[in-house]
Amino acid sequence: MTRNLIDFVDITHKEFDELYRLCADIMKKPDKYKNVCVGKVLANLFYEPSTRTNLSFRTAMYKLGGSVIGFSDPGSSSVAKGESLKDTIVMMSNYADLIVIRNPMEGAARAASLYSRVPVINAGDGGHLHPTQTLADLTTIRMHTGGIKNLNVGICGDLMNGRTVHSLIKALSGFPDIRFYFISPRELKIPDYIRYFLDSNKQKYIEITSLEATVSSLDVLYMTRIQRERFDSESEYERHRHAYILTSGKLSDAKSSLLIMHPLPRVDEISVDVDNDPRALYFAQARYGMYIRMALIMTMLKNAPAEPRETEVGGAACVNPRCVSMFEKYLPNLTYEREGRVFCEYCDKEI
Ligand code: NCD
Repeated sequence: MTRNLIDFVDITHKEFDELYRLCADIMKKPDKYKNVCVGKVLANLFYEPSTRTNLSFRTAMYKLGGSVIGFSDPGSSSVAKGESLKDTIVMMSNYADLIVIRNPMEGAARAASLYSRVPVINAGDGGHLHPTQTLADLTTIRMHTGGIKNLNVGICGDLMNGRTVHSLIKALSGFPDIRFYFISPRELKIPDYIRYFLDSNKQKYIEITSLEATVSSLDVLYMTRIQRERFDSESEYERHRHAYILTSGKLSDAKSSLLIMHPLPRVDEISVDVDNDPRALYFAQARYGMYIRMALIMTMLKNAPAEPRETEVGGAACVNPRCVSMFEKYLPNLTYEREGRVFCEYCDKEI
């Protein structure tokens, strides 16, 4: 199993399959697993608000018999005194066997993994990626379709800033016969690095602005909220906040087998009258999220401790103002090259 889970593509299909099977077994026989993590400690470092991800990781660890340390308000930790990400991570990897981190800086989890002696799990890095939500999403799709293949997948809302969207797109692109319908306001289309990823994988997608025009073709409809905290001004957010509202009326032509998903929290993009529709899976999706995180914790704790990664200083500096390398100045510039183009390894922006 991958040492760190920073991006969903760190996990192979075979590994996802193993996690899924373990998750299904945990759901069937939870008692069998109640002591498997006794004596193990999970550090849950939440620098940004969270309900599901934070609490589902905590509950997952408790249900496995392990313990949880960490913070959900960085203001109550030494971060408020100006401690660097590096120092916090070096410290935490002295205490814990596994680190889960959510941070508003893009690439923060990758940066943390450079300094950690224990595996690091990305629980959301700014508007970049959120691979464990993708685990919950793929688990939901697989549980309700029997297999992740040959699907028309509509993803609707703030596709520019929604990190769950980016991880889900990257993950689903690896499965056979997936056709994407990206439904968003023109200003909130998928970011360039995701477009580049799709194009270089020859993945089929169309970009549209109308939800109504698309809904009847879909097998999966993944709604997302407009990401208020990522906008520079409140007025910009207000302009988009009511862009899409799914109501039961809009589902009248949808397939009876449609999976209606949402990573949650919902603001008003799914009307409450949809909640009783048997196709609405978003609360079940959150439940699966906890079980697949139990499987992930168990699996990653089997990784042998490793030395932090050696990095060479050099390479081009990132220009993305939201990249972790802009804030944590000691970080080495890390880049990778694809087809002659250079990208930042923390935030994936082209340099
Ligand atoms: C998402 C997130 O934090 O990115 N929530 C979650 O983890 N389930 C989605 C969101 O905040 O819109």
